[in-house]
Amino acid sequence: MKFDVVTIFPGMVTGPITEGIVGRAIARGMLDVRVHDLRDHTTDRHRVVDDTPFGGGPGMVMKPEPLFRAVEHVRATRGVPGGVILTSPDAPRFTHRDALRLCGLDHLVILCGRYEGVDDRVRRHLATEELSIGDYVLSGGELAALVIVDAVARLVPGVVGHDESVARDTFARGLLDFPQYTRPAEFRGMGVPPVLLSGHHAEIERWRRREALARTLERRPELLEGAELGPADRAFVDELLQQREKH
Ligand code: ADE
Repeated sequence: MKFDVVTIFPGMVTGPITEGIVGRAIARGMLDVRVHDLRDHTTDRHRVVDDTPFGGGPGMVMKPEPLFRAVEHVRATRGVPGGVILTSPDAPRFTHRDALRLCGLDHLVILCGRYEGVDDRVRRHLATEELSIGDYVLSGGELAALVIVDAVARLVPGVVGHDESVARDTFARGLLDFPQYTRPAEFRGMGVPPVLLSGHHAEIERWRRREALARTLERRPELLEGAELGPADRAFVDELLQQREKH
């Protein structure tokens, strides 16, 4: 899968992508990530990427020309992308479902927004979609671009060592994850749930499912509405809700 990230701070993006699972996948040729300095696509001597807003007001707005030229450069040198994403806090929130969809597009351009905003012609005529990574304002879209690259890249087959761990991920299953433990079985007086040491696989699966349901109900109850629950799951959730009413 190919990614092209367009930014005025290339170093902010280049560093993190060379590390960890994404870094390893790039080294192995499974991912092809290029970072483009927006200023390389300006035409003036001072390499200006922003200007004051028409109509007045505080702050600066990112100019359209360098962003259009950067995407044209990507098209000419890297091929036509499946999507052009503009990062913005004023956009639909990026979810696991988006990551799955974007993974199918094979080649993405991510434009990192900066300053007080981006000329709206970029949003309307260049980007194919806008995404926010959460309800807070970052100083720029670079961290958002990294989040999107990471979440999409790990869904590319082979990027994460175990396909099973991707399929079992929190949001892939629609539930939060169950608690995990490793050796030692006793640590500073803290034990682990005995069922995990029992060797009874069916019992362990049942315990894990119940823990995942209980944790989801407690922390993110709205996820249960979209999760695929069997009759035993529903009965367990009802039991938890009844217990809650009693207390
Ligand atoms: N740029 C600034 N804040 C952002 C956010 N929350 N998501 C995506 N891009 C942003």
